[in-house]
Amino acid sequence: MKDILKIAVLASGRGSNFQSIQDAIEDGKIKAKIILLVTDNRKAQALERADNHGIETLFLNPKEFPGREAFDSAIASAFRKRQVDLVVLAGYMRVVSRNLIRPFKNRIMNIHPALLPSFPGLHGQADACDYGVKIAGCTVHFVDEGVDTGPIIIQAAVPAYDDDTQETLSARILACEHKIYPKAVKLFAEGRLDVDGRKVRIKRQKKREDDVLYSLL
Ligand code: GRF
Repeated sequence: MKDILKIAVLASGRGSNFQSIQDAIEDGKIKAKIILLVTDNRKAQALERADNHGIETLFLNPKEFPGREAFDSAIASAFRKRQVDLVVLAGYMRVVSRNLIRPFKNRIMNIHPALLPSFPGLHGQADACDYGVKIAGCTVHFVDEGVDTGPIIIQAAVPAYDDDTQETLSARILACEHKIYPKAVKLFAEGRLDVDGRKVRIKRQKKREDDVLYSLL
């Protein structure tokens, strides 16, 4: 029997998406184990969350490396040493370089708080709010060498109201993030994601079960 899927999380801050995945694992919804939390921020709240769940943590200080590639090589080697199967970026505030992406091709996921390809970059919710969209949302995608450009796994939409502020819209989006990120990890753990160029095909278990993805959000 294959060993349980080993996940490593990269987070720089609050870590609420990390928490939503760990909770889904503990609830028995995902057959996987988060074995490592790596952060580039010594003060990340995600560190506390990992401690609370007995998950190993590793702080790497980017300033101690000559550049992004060297930093990412250190992360890749920490992952290889622990035989990590899937890498989950959860509020990780650094652009990942090819030194991490290539050895983990189609095995690194990210969540972005906008409906990609609209509003990539650091301020997805604020940019959507300022633009005046009527529908906003979030996207889970595999990470490629661009910024928020990788193949899309799941998206969820929420309304944007006239009286929304960046804060109210962000909170509505975040509630959706906490649903779709565990769902994407679950699909990966079940071996149900096929990447074909830009397209991610979800292998169906039952008749149109995956339509739930779009209707429950
Ligand atoms: C989320 O909005 C996520 O989409 C974005 O950064 C935020 C991280 O939140 N990439 P958290 O650290 O998971 O609470």
